[in-house]
Amino acid sequence: MGGGGVLFLVIGLVVFYSLRYRRKAGETDEPQQFHTHSGLEIGILAATTGVMGIFFFLTITTMLAVNDNPAPDRPPDLVIIGHQWWWEARYPNSGVVTANEIHIPSGKRLLVEVRSADVIHDWWVPELGRKMDMIPGTANHLWMEARHPGTFLGTCSEFCGTQHAWMRIQVIAQAPDAFAAWERAQLQKPTAVNGAVAAAGETLFQQKTCANCHAIAGTKANARIGPDLTHLGSRNTLLTGMLENTPENLTRWLDNPQQIKSGAHMPNFIFTKAEVEALVEYLEHLD
Ligand code: CUA
Repeated sequence: MGGGGVLFLVIGLVVFYSLRYRRKAGETDEPQQFHTHSGLEIGILAATTGVMGIFFFLTITTMLAVNDNPAPDRPPDLVIIGHQWWWEARYPNSGVVTANEIHIPSGKRLLVEVRSADVIHDWWVPELGRKMDMIPGTANHLWMEARHPGTFLGTCSEFCGTQHAWMRIQVIAQAPDAFAAWERAQLQKPTAVNGAVAAAGETLFQQKTCANCHAIAGTKANARIGPDLTHLGSRNTLLTGMLENTPENLTRWLDNPQQIKSGAHMPNFIFTKAEVEALVEYLEHLD
């Protein structure tokens, strides 16, 4: 809106002055020329500097107000690591590691450390605090607080490659009791593998290359290259918010990852139909 107003003002003035001062019939001389007008030039410079200065001041004071003491001398409550193209969340106090759906306790001001595993990403959930770049090799800090339970959405706000637009953020704020229960559950081995198909899926997961990149708590899979899949069945979405978490969508993903999320680091393993079925049965029951 504001940009449109400026556009119309500028174009309007250009049209107005072109018509107002056009050469009229019978005029042959050059119009009167003006070269300098110190008062006007100093005035324009001072006015623009003043306006910029006011916005600069407001920006800096607001940034400091929402993020005072950005790096206190204590460990963070939560570490969030941006990857191409998903989020890793670590809870240093409990040792929980999860991906993409980030649970936090409501009513608590959390010190969050943000990092990157590859390129520059930018963390931004507007309702929970300021945005913060995730720079490779550096840890940045911000304060995050959800005043009440709920799901808060955000996105990666720095272009980070082909799937940047699908780097959605979901923060699930829970009442402290519910959060504590969630955290305890995350540390438990997912429910026992039930049935022959799921058992085949588990074997496949551990023996084929899945376990080389992914972790599932309580099993031998503990790699940190791809998202942690412990309790995958309890998540609402797959692929950083791209798809609803259903067996059909997980099947589509395992069938051909690049068709769904081109450029993702998940290779196509060319599984057979039975293998995909077994993996889906196993993974969707990790709740
Ligand atoms: Cu990550 Cu854009």
